[in-house]
Amino acid sequence: MIDRQRLKELSAREERKFIAEHPRSAELYARAKGSLLGGVPMNWMKKWAGAFPIFVAHAKGAHFTDVDGHEYVDLCLGDTGAMTGHSPDATAEAVAKRVREGITLMLPTEDSLRVGEELKRRFALPYWQFALTATDANRFAIRIAREITQRSKVLVYNYCYHGTVDESFATIQDGVVGPRRGNIGPPVNPRETTRVIEFNDLNALEDALKQHDVAAILAEPAMTNVGIILPDEGYWKGARELTRRYGALLIADETHTICAGPGGCTREWKLDPDFVVFGKPIGSGIPGSAYGVPEEVARRITARVHLEDCDVGGIGGTLAGNALSIAAMRVTLEKVLTASAFEKMIPMAKLFNDGVAAGIKQHGLPWNVIQLGARAEYHFSRKPPRNGGESAAAADFELERFLHLYALNRGALLTPFHNMALMCPATTEADVDLHTRIFREGAAELVR
Ligand SMILES: Cc1ncc(COP(=O)(O)O)c(C=O)c1O
Repeated sequence: MIDRQRLKELSAREERKFIAEHPRSAELYARAKGSLLGGVPMNWMKKWAGAFPIFVAHAKGAHFTDVDGHEYVDLCLGDTGAMTGHSPDATAEAVAKRVREGITLMLPTEDSLRVGEELKRRFALPYWQFALTATDANRFAIRIAREITQRSKVLVYNYCYHGTVDESFATIQDGVVGPRRGNIGPPVNPRETTRVIEFNDLNALEDALKQHDVAAILAEPAMTNVGIILPDEGYWKGARELTRRYGALLIADETHTICAGPGGCTREWKLDPDFVVFGKPIGSGIPGSAYGVPEEVARRITARVHLEDCDVGGIGGTLAGNALSIAAMRVTLEKVLTASAFEKMIPMAKLFNDGVAAGIKQHGLPWNVIQLGARAEYHFSRKPPRNGGESAAAADFELERFLHLYALNRGALLTPFHNMALMCPATTEADVDLHTRIFREGAAELVR
């Protein structure tokens, strides 16, 4: 369908345009290679479309400006870390105040109660703990699940992503579980720690749980890291019945699916997990994450953790729950990621979705677009994928890079992984319309 030769030529043209228009970023990147491994502060930053990453001067709300003076509509929003919009005024003020009053003490502040109470209200889970990243919160939830079930295995969905959690870097290849492609230095073959199944397959889930050795399923309520994949009607109800029948716990990683509403999919879809994990935007991008548990899990963990060893048990961290993170979480939950913010964000994602859908139709492309709350994503397959294997098979790295670079060169930034766009409370119709126009023009060039 896509003429690959034409795609190559268009990509080369866009690359030339990118290089010509970003001389200052090019200069900084050349210098950065002298002191930063790979020329970037974190290895994923190499993945952006374009010959080098653009360096940011400043960001506010739904926009940022690069060091060459170009302004962009940010639909990546720090891969959800800035779903609040960049530097919301309320957060900036609360954080600045806290910075002057003590950043970290290994003692609680009153803010922590306000955060715990608000999370309890949103997710209907009574007890909360804090960590610094969603990765850590997932790791701690897994440890607790293993401890209280006295089982060793974790179950994940094929092509999931939950942060740098060792157990989750596993995929199914020819029916066998093994390390995911690119898994750097796996401590053991993840086959030893992990069961992997496809999403939306209750029979596969039952087969995986039947051996009574799965401590927990670590899952996003809707997959968002291999494109958006929605659960089939009734999937979670069936899955929950199975986890209860076979004694496995359910960890709902709401780090991205918080886009569905103030209490994530857990509240929107009335899920009833044993853990909820929420990181990234919980503090408007100030590092912090939280995990919550129901009464029963709290009781089981309390029974097994003893005061003398609580600091060396593998859960928690020196800076976890620090005063600054907690202050950022409090203001974010009370004043930024509020129910009324979602009322603005979700219609913007619908506008994005409808604009892209119309572009796909207009140019007869065999693609689809899916919305989940404040997030939307297009895929290179005619029908929305039902599981990670299907979605990964439809990926097209070259095409994806072209569309991302095309958008970047015209002032819109998409997430560097697949084709995801996220709305923040400051995203406007004009921001979304800019992307729609760019997407249609890019599609038109491809099929011409
Ligand atoms: C669903 C989900 N969980 C957890 C994480 C890990 O977040 P962090 O890298 O902030 O630890 C990610 C990161 O993309 C994620 O998408």
